[in-house]
Amino acid sequence: MDKLLIHGGRRLQGDVRISGAKNAALPILCAGLLVPGTLELSNVPQLQDVGTTLKLLERMGVKSTRDVAAGTVTLDGSSVTSTEAAYDLVKTMRASILVLGPLVARFGEARVSLPGGCAIGQRPVDQHIKGLQALGARIDIEHGYVIARASRLRGTKIVTDMVTVTGTENLMMAATLAEGETVIENAAREPEVVDLANALIALGARIRGAGTDRIVIEGVDALHGGAHRVMSDRIETGTFLCAVAAAGGDLRLTHCEPDTLDATLDKLREAGLRIECGPDWIRGTMDGRPKSVNVRTAPYPGFATDMQAQMMAVNCVADGTGVITETIFENRFMHVQEMRRLGAEIDTEGTTAVVRGKRGLSGAIVMATDLRASAGLVIAGLVADGDTLVDRVYHLDRGYDRMERKLAAVGASIERVRTVDDA
Ligand code: UD1
Repeated sequence: MDKLLIHGGRRLQGDVRISGAKNAALPILCAGLLVPGTLELSNVPQLQDVGTTLKLLERMGVKSTRDVAAGTVTLDGSSVTSTEAAYDLVKTMRASILVLGPLVARFGEARVSLPGGCAIGQRPVDQHIKGLQALGARIDIEHGYVIARASRLRGTKIVTDMVTVTGTENLMMAATLAEGETVIENAAREPEVVDLANALIALGARIRGAGTDRIVIEGVDALHGGAHRVMSDRIETGTFLCAVAAAGGDLRLTHCEPDTLDATLDKLREAGLRIECGPDWIRGTMDGRPKSVNVRTAPYPGFATDMQAQMMAVNCVADGTGVITETIFENRFMHVQEMRRLGAEIDTEGTTAVVRGKRGLSGAIVMATDLRASAGLVIAGLVADGDTLVDRVYHLDRGYDRMERKLAAVGASIERVRTVDDA
């Protein structure tokens, strides 16, 4: 099992090229199921989750060609032979549920394993199901699978009970091939929803309102082939900014989209990071110690829950006390226990964490528990005195494109250690 060995205390200096967004790439790959033709994608990140999604699609008969180094993927959905997403792949990646909407919309049937329990919270898919039922699909849950059937979906008005990102995406994809107009109210406004909508529009879908809480989709009989460039990863961008805010230094992030991370930039400015932005780059400079900030996660454009662990790492070494409130997932403080192993002073009560910043942390062995938690631990390790060994980095590999290489290239002492499995 791979681990990351970090020797803390180095400042970060240089340029980092930001990759395509995981949370945009995954739904857009699933959109390939809607097309009886080719979907050409560029700026696709090198991630475990992208590989898993391609495997899932290939099993259904979608042909894919990938040039990993160039970041391109071409999908051909003209000869889909199966409408099943089996448990062995779905269990490793919750986003697999995103095949449900496209499959039932184009083929009138889908059999998709229910995603298992997820460490960061219950994460049910009831809203995906409720929305598809409103679109006229019959849904049964049998033997751990969601089975959806419909002759053709019918446009309707859907109001989701809460803001759900993949729920909005699944329903938006399904509605592209429904008969008539679908309105999704209380839609997620995340930039990745907009990127998916743009990809679908390039494939012939009629969508307006993406980026607002009311998305209107005019169903068409069929989509056609097309091309799309995946947006840049705002969470990766924010993660590197947190790294420089905590470790100090001067980083210039290129190929990014500064206007997709206003809430993160505001908080980091408050923490003392000097930020300059161009159209597709951000420079973050930090000289002294960061100042503590209070953070409350919220759906976009609020502060992203996917940035919470990284901002907590900044607070761990900041001057003062910061209060972090997690409002999206009920169990997303698993990194707290690991950060304490590095000497951090954090108290939690329910979904609130009070972080008393300390001048330094001390290196230790820690365990990554989920994707963003891993990034928080890496940041803490960059600041800690001595060696930090982050175990279970497969979590990090799911969603970060060669993070340790990017960090090493800007001066961090970090290396991947391969060990024979020690279970
Ligand atoms: C997506 C992101 C994930 C991010 C999250 C919140 C992808 C692939 N993943 O996850 O990185 O952390 O948004 O920004 O884009 N809920 C229900 N029923 C549902 C759906 C959701 O109760 O049917 C609840 C969830 O348990 C959670 C909240 O709604 O409490 C938001 O979840 P949601 O936006 O759906 O997260 P994901 O789309 O899974």
